[in-house]
Amino acid sequence: MATAAPSSGPGTVNLQYDGGTLALPLIKGSEGEVGIDIAQLRAKTGMITFDPGLGNTGACRSKVAFIDGEKGILRYRGYPIEELAKKSTFLEVAWLLIHGELPTKAELDTFAADVTRHTMLHENFNRFFDALPKDAHPMPVCAAAVGALATFYQQPETDQHVHDTITRLIAKMPTIAAASYKHSLGQPSIYPQNALDYASNFLHMMFATPCEHYHVDPTLARAVDLLFILHADHEQNCSTSTVRVVGSSKANLFASISAGISALWGPLHGGANQEVIEMLDRIEAEGGDVHKFVELAKSKKDHTRLMGFGHRVYKNFDPRAVILKKACGDVLTLLGIKSKQLEIAMKLEEIALADDYFISHKLYPNVDFYSGIIYKALGIPVNMFTVMFALGRLPGWIAQWIEMRHDPDTRITRPRQIYTGATCREYVPIEQRG
Ligand code: CMC
Repeated sequence: MATAAPSSGPGTVNLQYDGGTLALPLIKGSEGEVGIDIAQLRAKTGMITFDPGLGNTGACRSKVAFIDGEKGILRYRGYPIEELAKKSTFLEVAWLLIHGELPTKAELDTFAADVTRHTMLHENFNRFFDALPKDAHPMPVCAAAVGALATFYQQPETDQHVHDTITRLIAKMPTIAAASYKHSLGQPSIYPQNALDYASNFLHMMFATPCEHYHVDPTLARAVDLLFILHADHEQNCSTSTVRVVGSSKANLFASISAGISALWGPLHGGANQEVIEMLDRIEAEGGDVHKFVELAKSKKDHTRLMGFGHRVYKNFDPRAVILKKACGDVLTLLGIKSKQLEIAMKLEEIALADDYFISHKLYPNVDFYSGIIYKALGIPVNMFTVMFALGRLPGWIAQWIEMRHDPDTRITRPRQIYTGATCREYVPIEQRG
């Protein structure tokens, strides 16, 4: 049994167990959340905690992002996501996340110039992409290519090298992403155009060909920039935790980010945006019966989930989804696109939000619910959706990796387990095994 001792500061909680009582110090965050410091638990009691999915476990102190899932709040370094979405650019947000403060004009100009100068890939990458199957999903291609960057930049890990690695990662990720798409089409990769801004350059590399000029519509570039901003960080989610775990072994930044991309690929994480479009397509193909699908998602007999709904942290609304719902409508209106998928999505949202199951389970649309519809309108192919998420999340991963490396509390991540397997038994020679 644990009881909190009254105290004016964070105080302690007393853990009463068979062998005695242990006072566990409390830690308080700047937004008032309280954690129980159990660093001495095993040494003093011989016991460990058990928390599958780590939903009750604070793995680090962090100053990068703050989420209040009950109130639908997301802030990067203290700035509300709504304000950054309205007023900022992705590169400015990237700087903010990595350095902790908004950049001055001079800092931003230098950062943008550095990123622009490093967008090209080593020519050997052409052979790297050629070696992969043509139908390769772009997520593992990106993970492999980012991991491969470590073979081109093998200097010892000095502050300067980490600085250069950050610039190279932010600069080269769009080039890698677009090249992975071009490879799947059998088209030559398009070289970056340094006269273009970050999002425009990415769209250009995606859609230009050596035979045809591609004019980047600034409205579309701004939509991409906004999507990147909304994905830029989300505290200790699965892929960010992966980046921290891998980095805790002192693996380099390229290796850690490559692992993060792999973690993001899963359908319960970044892969959900692709699954949302596939779900909307499926509903349309089966006659557009949204009610029937909602019933399926509620049924425990069926494994179907309403993709783009639910979140481990948000239990009221996901502020990113609110911004994206509006952006989605704006982009489609601007492009003059009538989207059956948007119609189905809005109907799905309306029905689910009025349904007892979704209300009682606190399931609301998340960032992936509307992002896929915008990507589709922008001409981004479905299997590139999660890559778009990775492009946006990159500065958050970097910021968290740096924070982890500078945190004096960082130790190699090495959880314990509750062993439930066989106890010690005698080896049986193969002839005697039945
Ligand atoms: N549709 C139907 N039921 C759901 C859904 C859903 N989308 N999400 C959760 N539930 C139910 C689940 O069946 C369970 O019900 P019960 O308690 O009756 O058994 C309950 O809600 C709790 O679910 P959980 O899986 O224990 O919740 P979690 O916090 O472990 O999972 C989640 C969070 C996001 C993985 C989950 O809500 C989900 O699978 N959503 C669909 C996939 C998705 O959209 N993922 C993108 C997340 S946002 C982008 C990102 O940050 O990666």
